[in-house]
Amino acid sequence: MAASLPSEATANWWRDAAIYQIYVRSFADGDGDGTGDLAGVRAKLPHLVELGVDAIWFTPWYLSPLADGGYDVADYRTIDPAFGSLAEAEKLIAQARELGIRTIVDVVPNHVSDQHAWFRAALAAGPGSPERELFHFRTGRGTDGELPPNDWVSEFGGVPWTRLEDGEWYLHLFATQQPDLNWAHPAVRHEHEDVLRFWFERGVSGVRIDSAALLVKDPALPDFVKGRDPHPFTDRDELHDIYRSWRAIADEYGAVFVGEVWLPDSERFARYLRPDELHTAFNFNFLACPWAAGRLRTAIDGTIAEHASVGAPATWVLCNHDVTRTVTRYGREDTEFDFGAKSFGTPTDLALGTRRARAAALLSLALPGAAYLYQGEELGLPEADIPRDRIQDPMHFRSGGTDPGRDGCRVPLPWSAQAPYAGFGSTAEPWLPQPADWSSYAADRQSADPQSMLSLYREALRLRRTEPGFRVAAGSGAQQMTWLPSAPGVLAFTRTGGLICVANLGAEPVELPGHTDILLTSGPLDGEGRLPQDTTAWLRN
Ligand code: GLC
Repeated sequence: MAASLPSEATANWWRDAAIYQIYVRSFADGDGDGTGDLAGVRAKLPHLVELGVDAIWFTPWYLSPLADGGYDVADYRTIDPAFGSLAEAEKLIAQARELGIRTIVDVVPNHVSDQHAWFRAALAAGPGSPERELFHFRTGRGTDGELPPNDWVSEFGGVPWTRLEDGEWYLHLFATQQPDLNWAHPAVRHEHEDVLRFWFERGVSGVRIDSAALLVKDPALPDFVKGRDPHPFTDRDELHDIYRSWRAIADEYGAVFVGEVWLPDSERFARYLRPDELHTAFNFNFLACPWAAGRLRTAIDGTIAEHASVGAPATWVLCNHDVTRTVTRYGREDTEFDFGAKSFGTPTDLALGTRRARAAALLSLALPGAAYLYQGEELGLPEADIPRDRIQDPMHFRSGGTDPGRDGCRVPLPWSAQAPYAGFGSTAEPWLPQPADWSSYAADRQSADPQSMLSLYREALRLRRTEPGFRVAAGSGAQQMTWLPSAPGVLAFTRTGGLICVANLGAEPVELPGHTDILLTSGPLDGEGRLPQDTTAWLRN
């Protein structure tokens, strides 16, 4: 019997979903070996149901030597044995779906692992072979080919070329273990279309596309010239044709895409979200924005306008597995996120950062569109200091040891305050060390505390689902929110459904705008019922 067509409301779930990112390695350890796994995720599904999320996005869970935490995929059709098996993944997808939670998987089309069968075959086949045409192999420059073929810089710092014993170099925009694929080759396109179908057939509802703007290179691989258009490897026009063919496949299954598109130019960004391309993309301009009312308002206005131009819903993201945890960043003097500015030992005021992170959570969850949460955000985890001899992230090593890397936001989660390793589940030491005070953030402790970050997120997500003020009027499109007049340093807006959101980033407490009920606040009002600094309120009108 043919499956019945989803109702429009169900089909549009992704337009205002709350999507929870799971970094499997650090979420929950089901078999006690120190590494998170699918059994751990299955055991914690009730946490996600209670939190109230609509979908889970899994960072790569495929077979991988984990040179870049799984973003070095050796085989897309096999689950890494450290995490489980394909049968367990299928069971997890089905079990989550029964609980009302959809699954999004991560596809990494720009590169594969150097252990992928294609790359091994390319190494074995040697220079000039058809196997090497799937990648970017070149001879070097200099009298003896001893210099890299061009002057590009790796996204992780350093030279993005590695030379082999046979004299050829291969391109890797990220780590040495992540050779870039040649997207001009039809087999590369065909294979990825097949991988999409493989996961859609297993019931996943969406795919996150890693490094989505980097796949296509200028075939001549010319030196980089500042300001010259098009860029030799970023945001090239040929990409849109690839995503149009992906979209046709997703449409067959009613599945959706979210692209990792880091592009400051909003017009160029919006091109990826045209109706026959990707459904959504991460909002990194908002994520990187400092905790400052003017900058946030500009980012929000820019977001709404760029998405309206193509009819796509916005996404709102505060953190992920690549960036500094919010409570740490917002407690710093400079609250903007910038990969290039990361350094060891930046001072932070965690109480201040936590207050702001609570306010930012309510601000972002009130905005029209989909919201992404990164595991541990709902627990208010800070960025951890990882002892240098335990750092694993290639970004740290490729920076020559100056960049602390991204491990500080990837520390195994604390689930229960009394259990070993804060209840992560390990009987052996977890793959990354947990800070000494980790158990004070444990989910079981926060669950019992109505003032905790976890209680705030639960209540906010519950209201997002049930409160009529969040409803989107049919056809309201871009007009889903309107700014209200407000004092300097205050962001106040109303949604077409009636919700009012006020965030006070200014130094002085402010009166709440007219309302009938206070639905939720990120912190207490002052003695006169005013909204203090670094506090957000949701009001019903
Ligand atoms: C993306 C991922 C990041 C990874 C990189 C290379 O930016 O989010 O974690 O290191 O791509 O795949």
